Amino acid sequence: MKVLVVNDELNTSTAKGRALRDIISILIANEVNVIQSTSAEDAASIVRSDPSVECVLVSWWLKGDDAKANSHIRDLLAIIRSHNDKVPIFLMAGRSEASIIPTEVMQIVNELIWPLEDTADFIAGRITAEITRYHEDLLPPLLRNLMKFSRVHEYSWHTPGHTGGTAFLKSPVGRAFYDYFGENLFRSDLSISVEELGSLLTHSGPIGESERFAARIFGADRSYSVTNGTSTSNRIVFAATVSAGEIALCDRNCHKSIEHGLTMTGAVPNYLMPSRNRYGIIGLIHPEHFAPEAIKRSISSNALTKNCHNKTPVLAVVTNSTYDGLCYNVTRVIELLEKSVDRIHFDEAWYAYARFNPIYEERFAMHGDPAQYRGPTLFATQSTHKLLAALSQASFIHVREGRKPIDHVRFNEAFMMHSSTSPQYAIIASNEVSAAMMDGVAGKAITTEAIKEAVAFRRMIGRIRKEFASKHEWFFSTWNAEEVKDPISGNRIPFEDAPEELLINDADCWVLHPGDTWHGFENLEDDYCMLDPIKVSVVTPGVSVNGSLELTGIPATLVTAYLDQNGIIVEKTTDFTILFLFSIGVTRGKWGTLVNTLLKFKHDYDNNTRLTEALPNLVAAHPKNYSSMGLRDLADEMFTQIKKSGQTQLLEDAFSALPSPTMTPAEAYRHLVHNEIERVPLDKMAGRVVATGVVPYPPSIPKLMPGESAGPDNGSHVNYLRALQSGDRSFPGFEHDIHGVENIDGTYFISCIKNKD
Ligand SMILES: Cc1ncc(COP(=O)(O)O)c(C=O)c1O
Repeated sequence: MKVLVVNDELNTSTAKGRALRDIISILIANEVNVIQSTSAEDAASIVRSDPSVECVLVSWWLKGDDAKANSHIRDLLAIIRSHNDKVPIFLMAGRSEASIIPTEVMQIVNELIWPLEDTADFIAGRITAEITRYHEDLLPPLLRNLMKFSRVHEYSWHTPGHTGGTAFLKSPVGRAFYDYFGENLFRSDLSISVEELGSLLTHSGPIGESERFAARIFGADRSYSVTNGTSTSNRIVFAATVSAGEIALCDRNCHKSIEHGLTMTGAVPNYLMPSRNRYGIIGLIHPEHFAPEAIKRSISSNALTKNCHNKTPVLAVVTNSTYDGLCYNVTRVIELLEKSVDRIHFDEAWYAYARFNPIYEERFAMHGDPAQYRGPTLFATQSTHKLLAALSQASFIHVREGRKPIDHVRFNEAFMMHSSTSPQYAIIASNEVSAAMMDGVAGKAITTEAIKEAVAFRRMIGRIRKEFASKHEWFFSTWNAEEVKDPISGNRIPFEDAPEELLINDADCWVLHPGDTWHGFENLEDDYCMLDPIKVSVVTPGVSVNGSLELTGIPATLVTAYLDQNGIIVEKTTDFTILFLFSIGVTRGKWGTLVNTLLKFKHDYDNNTRLTEALPNLVAAHPKNYSSMGLRDLADEMFTQIKKSGQTQLLEDAFSALPSPTMTPAEAYRHLVHNEIERVPLDKMAGRVVATGVVPYPPSIPKLMPGESAGPDNGSHVNYLRALQSGDRSFPGFEHDIHGVENIDGTYFISCIKNKD
């Protein structure tokens, strides 16, 4: 137990000081950890930084405060409540003061105590009782029961065979494993036959309770806890909604698991093409593609839909937000799509936090009140392990019932088809905890912290860039508006000078407005697309405002390699951008190191520091290629290669036209199972139909889906892959990561369907 006591007489020899010290001694004797603070400011810092405080005792008046308004104390109380609406607060006052404490303060605190009038034993007892109650309320249903069960049950006769970890103790390696992970992991690793905890497959007992608890927090009618990632959640939604020969509208910017959903179900994909900007960042699908006429047109021109007797799509899948943090105005998307389809699935793998901060209002699937909802049935799939605090593989499927609902019993058949009969309880419990952490005011406080850090980082990069620019020197920039609008005066303010309060609260600062040049997207509808502040793309020099390449530039992969050499692992790198995620665990120290390393890169680049010094690991792996070069030499060579190969433009061309489909992903997969496929080198790919998807990371959009033709030899698809292949040959150590491509001694090979003889 941990208690914070805030009183300026703690160390004085006054009666109040003595009474407080008596209370503290009793608490310490009862093994309560007591933090003492003598000022509201210090106490506020403790509250902000230490969520393990389980009770706060605060004096109604502190030295230096305004005796009538008690504004320091009121501010402190507000700060405590903005972080935690449940932690017990005891207000310490004299009996004579009680009558003047305003009602709104009384509503914030749990209890009034009078240290001079009541006994120390009595007050200490009240405190420990409140902490115990708080602790019981704090734990969500499954975690509470799991802890209880593993405390009470000593012997297990069911699987898993390690029986609470005891099996590991019989071998030295088992013991090392046991010691490393600790006893609780094993004691809570239980069989699904433990009735007290319920079952994930039937959603009964505490597990079912925990799913209902999550549904309330995320704004869903029903939530399903999934223990094999959003990859599985996506496949479950497909299995529940689509069957063979039916049409699914699919965002082309989709995860591999959507391809798997198509393959498993035999659905016929009709793709919706997203936009792209000059940096190669994938944007949103424009509203005109969601319009009913456009959908009808694209279905009727899709070679695969000819044999579908029902031309009405049964599901639409949209990725929200994109990898780079572009999020839809979901109200608008639903308004457009519901004219064509009764069920919409938003893949929000990277976006589980959106409901908890008002800046994302209306930009996530489960927005608003489920009771008021009247639209198509919605599904949201979220990797709580990605940007909330759950263990790897934890994911939720949230269902908002609307038109053409799927009742639980039918949906659960698909759920069970893709779920293990031995799920890991720690993953399910972490899913529940990730929801509980967002409940009440805490969700806003935690997400605001992350947004604040991202904004502070962006502003700092902006200020450094401005400083260098005044000396005609280069620096990196962050991808966001250069100026934002002051909502009161209407004046434009440079981003880096804008008040923090404006940037963290006003969504307008992040909306991609039509006509603004910073974002590089054409034909935008206003308020349709917003950049998520926490997904920060750092832009390297080289691309001009009109999208053409400048005379010199720094390929982002080189900066990424440099950061990696300095212990900083980035999320994603395109030709000229590097993505950093400011997740809820981010700290100022972490991004401070990043800023320093970017400055160090600039120094090494400007001085053409030898690669033996700047990138020693790269030189050690490829001494012949790099040992005589400097950092700037390598940047120049790589930039020239990108320019010469036209890679950036080829990427644009390749992703602006969909390849021709010749069979569905399911048919292509059937060929793969029957081994009617062969490995084909890139130079022989013309006209070949691929058996597996080809997905360059990044941008991680499928370049070719299984069953699609690679097109002509000089077409954009083959040419783009050729440009990447040539880059890989020239710069070992910087090879591209392309799923579906085998790089054998510098030549790309792709699995294609065997041609009929
Ligand atoms: C858009 C999208 N959907 C789904 C997934 C799969 O999520 P998970 O890793 O939780 O299986 C990812 C993973 O990167 C993703 O980017």
